[in-house]
Amino acid sequence: MNYRWFAVARVLHVFAIVIWIGGIAAVTTVIFPAIRRIDSNEQKVWLFEQVEHNFRPQARTAWLIVGLTGIYMVGSLGAWKRFVEPHYWWMNAMVGLWVVFGLMLFIVEPLVVGPRIRRSLASEPRAALARIEVLHWMLLALSLAVIASVVGGIYGLF
Ligand code: HEM
Repeated sequence: MNYRWFAVARVLHVFAIVIWIGGIAAVTTVIFPAIRRIDSNEQKVWLFEQVEHNFRPQARTAWLIVGLTGIYMVGSLGAWKRFVEPHYWWMNAMVGLWVVFGLMLFIVEPLVVGPRIRRSLASEPRAALARIEVLHWMLLALSLAVIASVVGGIYGLF
């Protein structure tokens, strides 16, 4: 294993996770409460769409960097067999979360639910935004649980 490149990959892995999951945390805990305090439905939807529009390319880029650096690290560590060892369940949790976000960012949101969300934002904005907020809380909780599992797992907590 080339230790220097492994360290670079790990730095990039963590940077991308900070930007990506930190972005979700900011949207969920800061932006959504602000949106709730806005009276006008048009302004609510406008702000939400601006935030999503700006965050989407950032999340997609971070997702890609996390995956590439993660796969590189698994290869460097020769750790492919971890995926079948129950003790390393947190490795599967990490990749599982990455797959879930990948499906949402590249397939489900743009191709499947995106048009429906836009319709419900136009017809019933408050209810639609409340549903999207709950989804963001769920994704944030899941992401934090995975981060805690991975860091704990690396240090032999499980
Ligand atoms: C294809 C997807 C992914 C792969 C292959 C992957 C692989 C890896 C590997 C091999 C390590 C080093 C493990 C060790 O030193 O024993 C690692 C560290 C880590 N990964 Fe991932 N990962 C992926 C996605 C994710 C995701 C989605 C998250 C969380 C949102 C995540 C969070 C972390 C964290 C927090 C660390 C520890 C960093 C540190 O303490 O330096 N990874 N990952």
